[in-house]
Amino acid sequence: MTEEEFQVPSSKKDAKRRAEELKEKIRYHDRKYYLENEPVISDHEYDMLVKELEALEEKFPELITPDSPTQRVLSTEIDEFETVEHMSAMLSLDNTYNHEELKEFDKRVKKGLGSEHEKISYIVEPKIDGLGVALFYEDKILQRGSTRGDGVRGEDITPNLKTVPTIPLRLKEGTVLNTIEVRGEVYMPRDLFEKMNQERIEKEKDPFANPRNAAAGTVRNKDPSVVAERPLDIFIYTLSHHEEGNFDTHWKCLKEMKKAGFKVNENIVKKEGIDEVIEYIDEWKEKKEELNYEIDGMVVKGNRLDYQEELGATSKHPRWAIAYKYPAMRKTSIVEDIEVQVGRTGKLTPIAILEPIQLSGTTVERASLHNEDELERKEVNVGDKVLVEKAGEIIPQVIKVTEKKSEGVFELPRNCPVCGSDAKKIGDEVARRCINANCPAQVKQKIEHWASRNAMDIEGLGPKVIEKLVEKDLVRVIPDLYKLQKWQIIHLERMGEKSAQNLLSEIEESKDQGLARVLYGFGIRYVGSHMSQVLAKNFRSIEELMEEDAEDLMRIDEVGPETAQSLISFFGDEQNRKMIDELRALGVDMESEMERTEDFLAGKRFVFTGALDQYTRSEASEMIERAGGRVTSSVSGATDFLIMGENPGSKLDRAKEEGTTILNEEEFQEILEKREIPD
Ligand code: IVH
Repeated sequence: MTEEEFQVPSSKKDAKRRAEELKEKIRYHDRKYYLENEPVISDHEYDMLVKELEALEEKFPELITPDSPTQRVLSTEIDEFETVEHMSAMLSLDNTYNHEELKEFDKRVKKGLGSEHEKISYIVEPKIDGLGVALFYEDKILQRGSTRGDGVRGEDITPNLKTVPTIPLRLKEGTVLNTIEVRGEVYMPRDLFEKMNQERIEKEKDPFANPRNAAAGTVRNKDPSVVAERPLDIFIYTLSHHEEGNFDTHWKCLKEMKKAGFKVNENIVKKEGIDEVIEYIDEWKEKKEELNYEIDGMVVKGNRLDYQEELGATSKHPRWAIAYKYPAMRKTSIVEDIEVQVGRTGKLTPIAILEPIQLSGTTVERASLHNEDELERKEVNVGDKVLVEKAGEIIPQVIKVTEKKSEGVFELPRNCPVCGSDAKKIGDEVARRCINANCPAQVKQKIEHWASRNAMDIEGLGPKVIEKLVEKDLVRVIPDLYKLQKWQIIHLERMGEKSAQNLLSEIEESKDQGLARVLYGFGIRYVGSHMSQVLAKNFRSIEELMEEDAEDLMRIDEVGPETAQSLISFFGDEQNRKMIDELRALGVDMESEMERTEDFLAGKRFVFTGALDQYTRSEASEMIERAGGRVTSSVSGATDFLIMGENPGSKLDRAKEEGTTILNEEEFQEILEKREIPD
């Protein structure tokens, strides 16, 4: 539809008035549709409102405001999520698993308040199995949304959260709330998760393991337009900061947040005393399976805010709240077969193929039997009746044999079921591994991992294509991917000229993914997605990383001895070094994508102690890193500077012993301003 058909006003004043009107209408219909499930206009009528607003904004771009419904989906990709420090720590909850523990919690609360005989008023809420996020609003407008992260710092994922239709970009009129922070759980509804996975399977994309993983993978996706297509939703459960209004209970906060347009769970109740709480929790034990979202328990919170304050928190958990976790779902089934899988590292894993059963809303047909020791301990064989458990996001497990229907125990083969090479136990490892590094099963999984979303993200390189490439002996090691020619792949089954070309371009593009993804793609033990980012932040290139010894590596925050050792042995392996050389020669970028603006701190190592006044530690670290320096967590002979804030810790003594140059905050600032290190 064109601009004329909407009769876009020619005067800016009229346009502004109409734009305001349209925004308000769209917000109203969004609430009706997404929050109340009671749409009052047709989809077409709604689309027309949005299109008219778009036409207006196109003609008068100055009318575009950050809270405009047209601003939900950002079209540009995000380079890197910024780290944000939370206004107050995002604590986690202590867990309980039975009535007794809940009663003990109640006793502790009463004791803490010195009121042994009072019936405490509790709020009981479903514990949504998703991801904790914080949303900050200023003057009613959403400014920032972030992940929980480690509780102190999270990542700024505002553009992604803006795509979630149930997150208001602007608070509803009529609430006293204005400048606030709220916290809640982002999740994916069960039905929409199933539908999305079905579509992914049809498009030969990997399905997500469960709604939680899908939500987690989505909120940190760098492309908000991809996020917008995934069905995310949110429940808000905490008013963590407010500058207006006066609330004396959590219950009143929940009510006000609802009034402000947030989605607050409909099964939250107020109960007097722990017995009523327990009764409500039990009521949901089975009923929870009927919900359209996954919950893994219930959260019990003291209702009075003055009590919450009085009880306070430990370093990890508040003392006024607790989570109750429902027991994992268990059912019996029959082992129809036992399959032996060969993993990326050659590990043989026995998998029980089960007579399909329904467990917490999903069909379970396979369960891990782990390894030989487990097989023997449980005495499992084909034909046995077994008890199967599915706990949260973990793969279903066989707990025990309930009826032995067969003789003896299943024996793991002594040869790899895929390539026939010896399968051996090395050292005192429990696992049996195929010793052939070129085993097709291993190669396939290494390549799959390399191509996966969090690694090089080569969409067209799914399991089926990889299988064919490996079968035809076109790919044996990762670098082979970058040598593929069109004529070699065009004849593979279901691969036309166009898809062959697309695949080659995607492989070519993956060369620029940078160090973090390359490191993750190698599948080094203990180096997951997060660790590879930590490493890429600390080293400019793979060469720099390869030069380090274990001690150097362990000076990096978060790198422990196992990770350090694993990196050393990976880079010490001749095959791996050859692979890295080859990848470099083929043009794969193994430099850190960290933007380096200057170099005046090149090679210098910094350590912080005490609290800084002008910057947060992450800001200061970033400035150092951008200038080529490194930040490590502990002082050693290799440390060049200790930056000392208020109340320095024992690192100061260590620095004095080592003769490290000690800088106060002003001196540090001076270096940054002058862009040079004093002699
Ligand atoms: S309250 C200090 N309420 O569970 C209060 N958390 O282990 C902490 N969660 O990190 C949060 N549903 O991500 C709260 N109704 C609910 C919740 C909930 C899910 C998550 C949240 C938190 C974790 C606690």
